[in-house]
Amino acid sequence: MKRPLVRDDLRSMDGYHSPQVEVDVRLNTNEAPLAPPEDFQAAFLEEAAKVDWHRYPDRAAQSLREELAALHEVEADQIFVANGSNEVLQTLCLTFGGHGRTAVTFEPTYAMYGQIARTTQCRVFEAARDLEFRITESSLEDVIDSEDPDLLFLCSPNNPTGTPESKEVVEAAVSKSRGVVVVDEAYGQFADFTAIEMLKRSEVSESLVVTRTFSKTWSMAGVRLGYCVAPPWMLPEFEKVVLPYHLDSLKQIAGRIALRFHDEMEQRVTQISDERDRVSVALSDLGLEVFSSQANFIMFRTTACGVEGDELWQRLLAKSVLIRNCSKWPGLADCLRVTVGTETENNIFLEALEGAIK
Ligand SMILES: Cc1ncc(COP(=O)(O)O)c(C=O)c1O
Repeated sequence: MKRPLVRDDLRSMDGYHSPQVEVDVRLNTNEAPLAPPEDFQAAFLEEAAKVDWHRYPDRAAQSLREELAALHEVEADQIFVANGSNEVLQTLCLTFGGHGRTAVTFEPTYAMYGQIARTTQCRVFEAARDLEFRITESSLEDVIDSEDPDLLFLCSPNNPTGTPESKEVVEAAVSKSRGVVVVDEAYGQFADFTAIEMLKRSEVSESLVVTRTFSKTWSMAGVRLGYCVAPPWMLPEFEKVVLPYHLDSLKQIAGRIALRFHDEMEQRVTQISDERDRVSVALSDLGLEVFSSQANFIMFRTTACGVEGDELWQRLLAKSVLIRNCSKWPGLADCLRVTVGTETENNIFLEALEGAIK
């Protein structure tokens, strides 16, 4: 039997690869180490029991959008919700990318910007960060001048390096670029600055979009819920490319109820930040090169301890500890990234690591 041919441009592409294997300690995808509070779960089950299973969900997700708008002090017509921030990114690429258009990423960064943009047949230009993984204003200006991007992706704090983006860089990107500037704040609650400030009514920036997710700090990776804050004119454009009723009723309930537990979420952020600082010091004490992080993960280079990144990653896996192997990413030779887990998980990781580098 002959197999139909997939699109020419897809044949040379790889899918998203992050191993899902059974291990004792899983610190590879930057999820929250703790589930949402029990009261959240009880309130969710109570509302879920009232769902009209035979009816489509509220297509506009109005209540959820209003509540998110109140949280960020913007208007509901600035909030677009989707199945994880990946679907938000896809919606942005479908709206502003596509054939004959250009997206710019600053490598190393979250791999899905390039991946999703390419699936819309958008050309992707990978610009470089400096040695400390920062984007300088001059490199930003150069790439905007040379590539004239339709989409420019910033990630703050950046995955996998943990580097936050400065307000100056975001402002420079918005003022210089003709295209849309996307600031991915999947880990935004860990950083001091949020670009959402630039989308408040008094100074709505017409070309800025800030994406957020419930997958990380909200402890809801299993639910797949994300959103963006955008200027109001973009929302009707997003509606043209997104599938009708894409956000199911249960997800809308989960999101609304999660927001009632905002204080608990902030407490988790504080706890995780404290643990991150403790683990960072312990990694430095083991002689590793540790990159300063403003997120719930830490990237480190293994060169100084005399074991290659790949090898160390394998040795940890053999001890049933799974972290992220970034050593094949551009500019990240021998780099690994560990998600901050519970105190117990972090201790198991550190002990396994100490044994693995001896
Ligand atoms: C920077 C960044 N953006 C977006 C995502 C995707 O998140 P979601 O689960 O909301 O699709 C991730 C997930 O790891 C991420 O690291």
